[in-house]
Amino acid sequence: METTSVSKFLLPFLCFALFSSILVVHSAVTYDSKALLINGQRRILISGSIHYPRSTPDMWEDLIQKAKDGGLDVIETYVFWNVHEPSQGNYNFEGRYDLVRFVKTIQKAGLYAHLRIGPYVCAEWNFGGFPVWLKYVPGISFRTDNEPFKRAMQGFTEKIVGMMKSEHLYESQGGPIILSQIENEYGKQSQLLGAVGKNYVNWAAKMAVEMGTGVPWVMCKEDDAPDPVINTCNGFYCDKFTPNRAYKPRIWTEAWSGWFSEFGGPIYKRPVQDLAFAVGLFIQKGGSFVNYYMYHGGTNFGRTAGGPFITTSYDYDAPLDEYGLIRQPKYGHLKELHKAIKMCERALVSTDPVVTSLGNFQQAYVYSTKSGDCAAFLSNSDSKSAVRVMFNNMHYNLPPWSISILPDCRNVVFNTAKVGVQTSQMEMLPTNTQMFSWESFNEDISSLEDSSAVAITATGLLEQINVTRDTSDYLWYITSVDIGSSESFLRGGELPTLIVQSTGHAVHIFINGQLSGSGYGTREDRRFRYTGPVNLRAGTNTIALLSVAVGLPNIGGHFETWNTGILGPIALHGLDKGKLDLSWQKWTYQVGLKGEAMNLASPNGISSVEWMQSALVLQKNQPLTWHKTYFNAPEGDEPLALDMEGMGKGQIWINGESIGRYWTTTATGNCNGCSYAGSFRPPNCQLGCGQPTQRWYHVPRSWLKPNHNLLVVFEELGGDPSRISLVKRSVSSVCADVSEYHPNFKNWHIDSYGKSEEFHPPKVHLHCSPGQAISSIKFASFGTPLGTCGNYEQGTCHSPASYAILEKKCIGKRRCIVTVTNSNFGHDPCPNVLKRLSVEAVCAPTAAN
Ligand code: GAL
Repeated sequence: METTSVSKFLLPFLCFALFSSILVVHSAVTYDSKALLINGQRRILISGSIHYPRSTPDMWEDLIQKAKDGGLDVIETYVFWNVHEPSQGNYNFEGRYDLVRFVKTIQKAGLYAHLRIGPYVCAEWNFGGFPVWLKYVPGISFRTDNEPFKRAMQGFTEKIVGMMKSEHLYESQGGPIILSQIENEYGKQSQLLGAVGKNYVNWAAKMAVEMGTGVPWVMCKEDDAPDPVINTCNGFYCDKFTPNRAYKPRIWTEAWSGWFSEFGGPIYKRPVQDLAFAVGLFIQKGGSFVNYYMYHGGTNFGRTAGGPFITTSYDYDAPLDEYGLIRQPKYGHLKELHKAIKMCERALVSTDPVVTSLGNFQQAYVYSTKSGDCAAFLSNSDSKSAVRVMFNNMHYNLPPWSISILPDCRNVVFNTAKVGVQTSQMEMLPTNTQMFSWESFNEDISSLEDSSAVAITATGLLEQINVTRDTSDYLWYITSVDIGSSESFLRGGELPTLIVQSTGHAVHIFINGQLSGSGYGTREDRRFRYTGPVNLRAGTNTIALLSVAVGLPNIGGHFETWNTGILGPIALHGLDKGKLDLSWQKWTYQVGLKGEAMNLASPNGISSVEWMQSALVLQKNQPLTWHKTYFNAPEGDEPLALDMEGMGKGQIWINGESIGRYWTTTATGNCNGCSYAGSFRPPNCQLGCGQPTQRWYHVPRSWLKPNHNLLVVFEELGGDPSRISLVKRSVSSVCADVSEYHPNFKNWHIDSYGKSEEFHPPKVHLHCSPGQAISSIKFASFGTPLGTCGNYEQGTCHSPASYAILEKKCIGKRRCIVTVTNSNFGHDPCPNVLKRLSVEAVCAPTAAN
């Protein structure tokens, strides 16, 4: 029979396949001085941080695939203890916290994973990843040679390692995890603590290694990492880093791709030319593992942001933006860098470099093997000048602060300062989504005066986290003051002044139910003093102070002991008797808001109060108000955000899921432009001064249903909810800026992986997102244009054909290519001048959309 003969024919193959799959043995991951060895092979690995709780599970696959397409081999994540063990012994690995699913998604994409267990993670994450209950374990002291702490740390580490093992997720078991981290940047602490710190590091290393994962452990920024743990580097640059033993590889666990923001501060950008240069220098000097921190920063949903004052957005200027969209040119330029590095991989891992000087700031690193591989890196660390160097009897032009990569020791396939890929400008566009009529509910503070309704009464001031255990950002401190009718301020004299000393992070002062002022600390100094006039009346006055925590500290020596809240002194000045100290009065406390207790943000709790049509509410801009509305989800698949510009400060929920804290406070800083060349530090490259630090708040598509989505906003200060709108993020225009061929500089073009073509005429590539096409050419100039994407201007030389050529080739198309040569533009608009083509093309939805 037919089937029998087929199976007879297949049988030997099936047996062979079965047998060989049994034979695939996954050996342990090891290392030597050059690199990590996976299945016995040294590898140059490019990695990127994507923290699973900072996006939603249905974004994971796309993010990881984009990372893979961007040339990454490894995805790194911390493990966030406080979301997994919200109360002692009760674990949560669901939804955004489904670590196993995340690691399996990495595996499915064919990438490796680096699991940084910590469990201290820093990461601008609430309390550095520690659960708040841990602070209340008797006798505990964090991150030191302390038994209760070590017991808890070991317990959680074992829990995670056990989970990974039982799911066969270590490389040694056939899984994707090739590396793991214990602790995080302990070096400075260890030095401060001396012998105790050293004991703790030794204990942590031994504890981790004894777990027998079959993959190496690293400790970042810990020069004393005991064998076999590898000490690794974190920073903007790591080319000067060497591990503590000659037999350990050079690993860069955090190559900072940008920087985080704090409310009130600017946005930081790191130019990709500088990031690529830093990575190039590291690889040139024998580095074999680079992890971008972050590759996708994402969002600090809920109350997960660290602090104080870390923004809800953790965009980080990463190659994938907060919303998971590709950030150009960062993403594309790094992708080209990764290709170039991979072309050199065999040479890099096989031999030591020969280093020669090509000038004061110029060097050649040549990796040349006996088997004939040769890769060269030519670097110019002069931040001011381009230099023409001679290498192997050839001339090479090195732009300032750049590295050229020559995978065959002859041809430049990539220079870190020459960005060939397009720049995309992103825009937040209206969605036409109607918010159905707004309703509001005033957080009821009248009963606060009635101490029977509140939880705690004490003489004096209590530390905030001791009372709230961080179950809410809010803690009310309430007291009363009797004012005699003879006080002179009641008869037109100057109002008394209230002075409140707080240890952080913010306070709103209510006098007899009226907001009378607010005070804020900063991330650098949480403590602050509020001073303001108070409108008291004759008789009994209620002073209610709403102290607000805005993310618990995630960094600093023994931050678990730092205080939050109002610890005083608190005093009234300017009464007839002078000063009245309130610090040691009777104070009553209420943890959280009434609306929180009633679960007003959730679809189930929403009907527990009488809401008022906002249009009917007399007092607009009412502080401490809950607002709610419903909306239908917009069509399409662009990422969504809420524009909160018309609001003040508070929190947002959609269908009961917390979008996070919002605050539209204005960014102050120094936004005076930034150059890619020279040692990068975040203050050098600031953006957004004079605007709210964070205006838009990511609404994950997966949290929406098609209709009737519940949006709840709690506003602390007062704002106009009717100004809140849902916007979508999309590419608004794309720019390219490419130089013509110059006889002194060879423009090499990587066409596909590993193939380079000589003297390929330079081309401008433009492409809009799917569903879009180029609708107009906003700017085009072949000549000597000036400026950057969004602000191009014509220079002294300009080909009159520029617009016509671009329009002809690009309008109506999703992507187009234009060659940068004189002939393409009819004639040379200025002979003997090196010209460039700068273009900005507008992307608009195609008719079908
Ligand atoms: C590092 C730390 C990271 C993160 C980073 C700044 O020092 O290890 O967790 O906090 O700084 O974004």
